[in-house]
Amino acid sequence: MAFGLLKGKKGIIFGALNEQSIAWKVAERVHEEGGRLTLSNTPLALRMGNLESLAQQLDTIIIPADATSMQDLKNVFLQSMEFHGGKIDFLLHSIGMSPNVRKKLPYDNLDYEYLKQTLDISAISFHKMLQMARKLDAINEWGSVVALSYIAAQRTLYGYNDMADAKAMLESIARSFGYIYGRDKKIRINTVSQSPTLTTAGSGVKGMENLMDFTERMSPLGNASASECADYIISLFSDLTRKVSMQNLYHDGGFSSMGMSYKAMYVYNKSLEGCEDCDD
Ligand SMILES: NC(=O)c1ccc[n+]([C@@H]2O[C@H](COP(=O)([O-])OP(=O)(O)OC[C@H]3O[C@@H](n4cnc5c(N)ncnc54)[C@H](O)[C@@H]3O)[C@@H](O)[C@H]2O)c1
Repeated sequence: MAFGLLKGKKGIIFGALNEQSIAWKVAERVHEEGGRLTLSNTPLALRMGNLESLAQQLDTIIIPADATSMQDLKNVFLQSMEFHGGKIDFLLHSIGMSPNVRKKLPYDNLDYEYLKQTLDISAISFHKMLQMARKLDAINEWGSVVALSYIAAQRTLYGYNDMADAKAMLESIARSFGYIYGRDKKIRINTVSQSPTLTTAGSGVKGMENLMDFTERMSPLGNASASECADYIISLFSDLTRKVSMQNLYHDGGFSSMGMSYKAMYVYNKSLEGCEDCDD
């Protein structure tokens, strides 16, 4: 159901690769809510994914960019402002990649050049984006910026590797820049900490299917899907959340407040047999 929450609003969505991507779902929901957007991803992602079909569906343009390159980012902001005929109102950073995870190097045997890339792509790119946006004065007052995070920033989860360090940094950047951009331009900056989700990046996490089963059992509302995440992000882009800033907002069905649930306990306790759906 659409409510016209983003009518007249313009923005940029970074990180849509294919239909599974969280950013893809956000782009579709922005369009449904009456907002306009431009899309950006790396030249490699444009070859690998099918972003062109989304751009056609949403009647917009794709601006190729490596989010670690200030020059590329400048180009995305300038082209987007030209396309929109003015400044933007919302910005989504939905970018993550770890060469250490890709090469299956464990956390106690990291390659430090890879670690630098992990941090640059998955966290520092967010700072670069904000710094460039501010230099170009690209975001309207009361604009909203969101980046995607994960609970591994606060708690250790097997297999998440150096992405945990990147997410901790990402969330810190949201707070530090949120102060400066909020003070000067009333622009709010938040991170959304999403449930494990089966996307291209998500599938790279070691033991992803078992992790999703665990978090589903632990979360009273169940895992949050990519579409549900998009719904939440729309609310953050809308004028209904103008005083929410510098927060890491959990969108995880309640997982982050749980210690142990009946459904998770059930897996370990044979005496609880036959009652997997009990409400205790
Ligand atoms: N899938 C999950 O379980 C999950 C959970 C919590 C948070 N997140 C976060 O959500 C965000 C989106 O991931 P997703 O799950 O939709 O997967 P995805 O693979 O669809 O998206 C990741 C995107 O990052 C882009 N990217 C990689 N390197 C880049 C670079 N140098 N410059 C620009 N873009 C680059 C990729 O091209 C891709 O589009 C990521 O920050 C991820 O860490 C994912």
